Amino acid sequence: MSQRSCLSVILAAGEGTRMKSALPKVLHQIAGLPMVAHVVKAAEAAGAGDQALVIGHGADEMRKAATKFAPKAETFVQEKRLGTAHAVLAARDAISRGYDDVLVMFGDTPLIDPDALTVGRLKLAEGAGVVVIGFRTANPTGYGRLIEKGGKLVAIREEKDCSDEEKKITFCNGGLMAVAGSQALKLLEAVGNKNAKGEYYLTDIVEIASGQGLDVIATEASFENALGINNRAELAEAEGIWQRRRRRETMLSGVTLISPETVFFSHDTEIGADTVVEPNVWFGLGVKIATGAKIHAFSHIEGATVASNCDVGPFARLRPGADLKQKAKVGNFCEVKQAVIEEGAKVNHLTYIGDARVGAGANIGAGTITCNYDGYSKFFTDIGEGAFIGSNSSLVAPVTIGNGGYIASGSVITESVPDDALAFGRARQKTIPGKGKELRERFASAAAAKKK
Ligand code: UD1
Ligand code: MG
Repeated sequence: MSQRSCLSVILAAGEGTRMKSALPKVLHQIAGLPMVAHVVKAAEAAGAGDQALVIGHGADEMRKAATKFAPKAETFVQEKRLGTAHAVLAARDAISRGYDDVLVMFGDTPLIDPDALTVGRLKLAEGAGVVVIGFRTANPTGYGRLIEKGGKLVAIREEKDCSDEEKKITFCNGGLMAVAGSQALKLLEAVGNKNAKGEYYLTDIVEIASGQGLDVIATEASFENALGINNRAELAEAEGIWQRRRRRETMLSGVTLISPETVFFSHDTEIGADTVVEPNVWFGLGVKIATGAKIHAFSHIEGATVASNCDVGPFARLRPGADLKQKAKVGNFCEVKQAVIEEGAKVNHLTYIGDARVGAGANIGAGTITCNYDGYSKFFTDIGEGAFIGSNSSLVAPVTIGNGGYIASGSVITESVPDDALAFGRARQKTIPGKGKELRERFASAAAAKKK
């Protein structure tokens, strides 16, 4: 099948007013990726080498977004929303180039399983003219019903055009179709708009094709393939399904999730085997975790790379550019941004490390802050191998702490410290014998005098 050429036409011209959003509906995200990008990915996974994106509302924004998630896709504007067949025809120039297979998909149906599309393409390869990917549901209201006769699909009837008898059919159109490229334009052009909505229905190509004696079939896929998003409640439902799928895949790939339903992934999260993820962890975009790491509870991680056997959290925040090498440790209430934590280094408690390098085996005491920002520019802090930073120190960047450098607790370090040097950046302590007792007595008698 791989030698068969394939175009996917993705319809994304819906206004989506029910999202109550300035953003076009299909750009709302699931797992950090616009829902229409999930559709593009599924099409690619099913072997669609070319993509045609039919857009309407928010065309400029859509084009701009598409350059990121589908740089190869061609965009076509459907000026007036006259129905799904009319929308597919907006991509006429692409379709008429001549493909073996044309897949029609909806941009607001993000949970499509590429396997369902592949089944559709296989049926085309076997000679079918039109393949409709259907699903069964106990509550078919609103969906087009698949009308079969003798094992063949003869029509799809939209809800509003159904007879009472047809409304009882529970086998429905999920909105995915595979059409023989050689027939696609001819079929689409034959569609009229004499129906309850006065729209050009894509679904009418079934009756047309069947009338022409083409082989028209329905395959069955799970309901999720048809889950269309119209509002933010449905968006959250789709997100939930996506997360459940990904958690399962992650666990089956060798990662322990102690409480899977509390862990959230992005579409591009990578986690190696034998890593353990404790409850309530968020993986934002661009996270790579290697094998054997421990991600403790309540950690928030995005744009970070974590090497094998690292220990992160509980309550750690790894921001973009955090790069933890093997066996590094970032503990509770620590934030790391744009910084390399070299092998075995420890950043254990209450610390901010930003725009920095922490050398191998260095120990960063509780409450250490790299002061990287003067309100205008960011500056770099370089901490050498095996350095020891005493608790509650501020390292005012740009500054370098040499290998084995030793910083006294509570220091404010503004000048670089050479290898193996000890640096104090604080006032020396003064101790006055007996003065504490004297003060206490003085304050006590002052308080007593006030009460009289
Ligand atoms: C459609 C199907 C129905 C199916 C259901 C599954 C048709 C006629 N009906 O109905 O059989 O059960 O999806 O969810 O196809 N669009 C455009 N331009 C248009 C019209 C629609 O781009 O002129 C896009 C929409 O943005 C959307 C998709 O096509 O992504 C489907 O349109 P929608 O109006 O939601 O169709 P349904 O009534 O849900
Ligand atoms: Mg719909």
